[in-house]
Amino acid sequence: MMLRSEFFTFCHWRLLKKCLQNSLILTKGYRRNITHLRRTASKQLWLKQNYPACLSLPLIFYRKVSTLGQKSDESKLIKVLGIETSCDDTGAAVVDGFGNILGESLNQQTLTHLKTGGIIPNVAKEIHADKIESVVQEALRNARVDLMDVDGIAVTVKPGLVMSLRVGLEHAQKLAHITSKQLIPIHHMEAHSLTARMISSIPFPFLVLLTSGGHCLLALARGVEDFQMLGTTQDVAPGEAFDKTARELKLNTIPDLKSVCGGAAVERMAERGDPDSFPPVHVMTSRANCNFSFTGLKIAALRMILAEYERQGIPEEEVLPNAPDLCAWFQYNVTYHLARRLQRAFIFTELQGLIAENKTLVMSGGVASNMYIRTCLQKVCGMYGYRLVCPPQHLCTDNGIMIAWNGVEKIMAGKDCFQDPYTLQAQARACFGEDISHQVTNSSIRLPKLKIS
Ligand code: KG4
Ligand code: ZN
Repeated sequence: MMLRSEFFTFCHWRLLKKCLQNSLILTKGYRRNITHLRRTASKQLWLKQNYPACLSLPLIFYRKVSTLGQKSDESKLIKVLGIETSCDDTGAAVVDGFGNILGESLNQQTLTHLKTGGIIPNVAKEIHADKIESVVQEALRNARVDLMDVDGIAVTVKPGLVMSLRVGLEHAQKLAHITSKQLIPIHHMEAHSLTARMISSIPFPFLVLLTSGGHCLLALARGVEDFQMLGTTQDVAPGEAFDKTARELKLNTIPDLKSVCGGAAVERMAERGDPDSFPPVHVMTSRANCNFSFTGLKIAALRMILAEYERQGIPEEEVLPNAPDLCAWFQYNVTYHLARRLQRAFIFTELQGLIAENKTLVMSGGVASNMYIRTCLQKVCGMYGYRLVCPPQHLCTDNGIMIAWNGVEKIMAGKDCFQDPYTLQAQARACFGEDISHQVTNSSIRLPKLKIS
């Protein structure tokens, strides 16, 4: 028979293993127990072999406690299955009310679409259809949760590629029908916005900057379903401009960058480049709003690349020797444009008294995993008294976890999720909260000088 103390150690050990295996983060409260566990030789060996960082960094594992502080612990025992298929990632996860990721599964189509130079909706849909069942099953299996034991099934219904969205929605409808569980419709961008609350204590209201392959928007998050949009892109999203630039620079022919997306490839190349090697591009400098534009930058980059091929007489299929400089220049210009719009948003919220305390900017979406952008925007945040919170990289890109967490937030906020599952429809486009961008324009805010690097 196990002694009481042994039992606790055993439980903590199992919990620690499970959390590490699922890339989870533990509460500060568990730190003592981890320290204790590390003293046991066999467990220490296991940690050393599998998670060496855990041994050297005692504080890296702390869990997102009290993100929903006012809720009773009992109400946080809920578990939600989340399903995401809005673009090219088939994701599923089970998350509880404490923000614990109980299990997840993700099938990314990046490699397929890299070969064709972009996402072909039909192809994306076929892959989703092929993977959805196994991805959902794997998430449940990893979570060791039976479908009958979840409290709701959250699924992305908008915005996104309709054909892709339908695969997730129809699967979720089927599961909800069989189990009589509530189906929780999720807005993809709202889910991106709220993910940070799963890992950090961020009270409403806070600012959110979402930058991905399909979106770029700046908003004020005031509640689980209450958003005010300060600005959005007038043309393409920054991720698309990154992807196009990477393609024109043939970065996917570099062995090391073959399997990474365009944005990440540009970021890696830019590390060795000089952002000042070409003249800066001035984007929307005469418009005193928080809207974005990336088409001009994208075209400027394409022209610059073509001119360099010609000037240097490099064959089309080769990578330019000064590709790192072009990447650094492009990345700097995207970042500067983001920083200027953000600067105006900070001033606007201050003037309007929209955020009184705990000033926080949440940055998420695929492009938010760019460390150069994060570092520069962190600087701007510091100037205006904001704290920057970015979810870890794997939570910035599309995944089932953020959908499950949004489902948890909705249930805990008492939102009406009890719909007839078959009345829900996938929507390609969807507005994001209340559009107050005209109020920003009307404030005629002139920006003081800004240096970001
Ligand atoms: O959020 P996401 O996974 O999918 C949607 O677009 O909804 O974002 C994908 C986008 C791609 O365009 C990709 O190139 C970009 O995010 N991205 C990056 C980085 N990692 C991904 N862009 C810049 N730097 C990165 N490190
Ligand atoms: Zn996304």
